[in-house]
Amino acid sequence: MHGSATAHPNVALVKYWGKRRSRGNLPAMGSLSLTLGFFATRTTVRFDEAGGQDQLTLNGRANSRDLKRVQDCLAPLRSRSAATGAAAVDSRNDFPTGAGLASSASGMAALALAGATALGLAEDPDLVGRAAMAGSGSAPRSLHGGFVLLSIDSQGRWSCRSLLSPDEWPLKVAVAITQAGLKQTDSRSGMELTRRTSPFYKAWLASQKSDLADARAAVAQRDFGRLAELSEGNCLRMHAAAMGASPPLVYFNGATVECINRVRALARDGLPVFFTIDAGPQVKAVCLPDALDDVSDALGRVPGVRRVLSGDLGGAARPGTP
Ligand code: PMV
Repeated sequence: MHGSATAHPNVALVKYWGKRRSRGNLPAMGSLSLTLGFFATRTTVRFDEAGGQDQLTLNGRANSRDLKRVQDCLAPLRSRSAATGAAAVDSRNDFPTGAGLASSASGMAALALAGATALGLAEDPDLVGRAAMAGSGSAPRSLHGGFVLLSIDSQGRWSCRSLLSPDEWPLKVAVAITQAGLKQTDSRSGMELTRRTSPFYKAWLASQKSDLADARAAVAQRDFGRLAELSEGNCLRMHAAAMGASPPLVYFNGATVECINRVRALARDGLPVFFTIDAGPQVKAVCLPDALDDVSDALGRVPGVRRVLSGDLGGAARPGTP
């Protein structure tokens, strides 16, 4: 039995940073993201009923470090299917892995859909969503395209859906790569450290509800200026909460800060652009289509930026690995 799937990473404009206590992998807050069409993860899962051990190959190399997360993601599927046996997972990213570019989101979304396809369960979107969530709190968003909302109510019931397709508001994204290689603290341990030790965590959590409601309204009205203001504020508050952890978590390098300054200078000069940064040193600049060339050029000239990758918003995860 085998199945394959392709999923795009996403970048959160209203971020989640912190898990709900004693609720497994469930985020403590909702989030809103853009799906990035110019990066993809392609994953194939084979279940061998003869048995053996689960195995993961990531970008062509055997990987035992991330095997537990793979097993967490497959668990909801396995509990629905009688004969799964050992899983052999082959996953490839066409973009830097583990560097704050949301490879865990696209990786777990592609794995959930590939595994469900292999087991004949792909017609159950709730189950695929639960499998993605068990792997990574941002992964359910990568099952959907365009502007994606993940909402969670006070009881911990969650749902995820696309608010607008890429065609309905075709924003562009430029990603400034300021550092290659693995980031220092992965998001899972970073957010847990922040929740446990940062005096700013409560304030971060308290500001989240209104950010999410306001960002939803800005997306519905295609209000770029409002979305820019909300996204930059939300991003810097998340990083401020992380910097308040003990020991402090600083995901920025010097070039990250220079990119922030450059984007703000472009915006002051009238270009429709804003920045956001996840748990890594890379900077994502979101802009209206006509601004993309100027934004990419300007970021490419920031000292310390290695390259700039850019493109369109992307669609939902899909079966197959074209
Ligand atoms: O889904 P995780 O556990 O990889 O965490 C994602 C955390 C951020 O990217 C920083 C924020 C977000 O909402 O994507």
